[in-house]
Amino acid sequence: MTTRKGIILAGGTGSRLWPITQGVSKQLMPVYDKPMIYYPLSVLMLAGIREIAMITTPDDQAQFQRLLGDGSQWGIALEWIVQPKPEGLAQAYVLAEDFLAENPSAMVLGDNIFYGHGLPERMARADTRGGGTVFGYRVSDPERYGVVGFASDGTVNEIVEKPDAPPSNYAVTGLYFLDETAPERARAVQPSARGELEIADLLESYRHDGALNVELMGRGYAWLDTGTHASLLDAGNFVRTLQDRQGTQVGCPEEIAFENGWLSVEGLRARADLYAKTGYGAYLRGLVRS
Ligand code: DAU
Repeated sequence: MTTRKGIILAGGTGSRLWPITQGVSKQLMPVYDKPMIYYPLSVLMLAGIREIAMITTPDDQAQFQRLLGDGSQWGIALEWIVQPKPEGLAQAYVLAEDFLAENPSAMVLGDNIFYGHGLPERMARADTRGGGTVFGYRVSDPERYGVVGFASDGTVNEIVEKPDAPPSNYAVTGLYFLDETAPERARAVQPSARGELEIADLLESYRHDGALNVELMGRGYAWLDTGTHASLLDAGNFVRTLQDRQGTQVGCPEEIAFENGWLSVEGLRARADLYAKTGYGAYLRGLVRS
């Protein structure tokens, strides 16, 4: 039996957020009350994935490990992989080839934040499909992202990275469900003009074989950008607004682990005690009682 494994790609230089990210990894920046990495991690956990490879720069690995440990506090297993240089998103599959061991995967970028009703169900659908599935999201500035091009019959006819003339307004989000052929396909990708193994080229290999599905995320979803100082602050405000209004947490690994049956009541109580001085701890204590 195959098991879909997770990859979180959390390397890169973060140079668009310098000077802040000169001293600390971008994916450890706060998004309101949690480190950024909690949000993509929660997405993989919502997809039911328990074996996850964390890919970081060599310098940042120790800090991520201090925060996340081996994952057992959430009933998951984290494996640690270093990306020596930021040589492209598709390189993650080459680096994680042994970890994946011929299993399908779900990769999420460590700086991507998703929120919306029905996300677990969408991921469950992607999980049962063969080939690859990516998620398209309508944006006002597609030239900043990978973009999906559609033929007149609605099928996908291209995936292009940061095009000057975008073929549509649908950006490819940083969540990729790919089958077990991803590492082999990634090894065949040639470095681009900017010297990177481009995710667009890997996806193009799937599309060429008629094996790429694009699911569009509609208006009810938030896919938040953390790429600039302003959008990072906006993401924090978004999380704060939702949490304050609803009294529920966005991106809380303990809650997801508890609901998935990966964390016992005792385990949850121990986490609540650890964070006793914070609102986060109070929230976990509330979960113990409910
Ligand atoms: O956020 C979605 C977009 O992410 C997609 O629409 C694009 O197709 C995809 O290329 C990517 O675009 P970005 O402009 O955000 O790529 P960036 O180079 O900033 O890398 C995204 C994240 O991945 C960032 O947090 C750093 C990390 N990264 C990047 C590279 C190139 C790595 O960990 N290693 C790398 O080699």
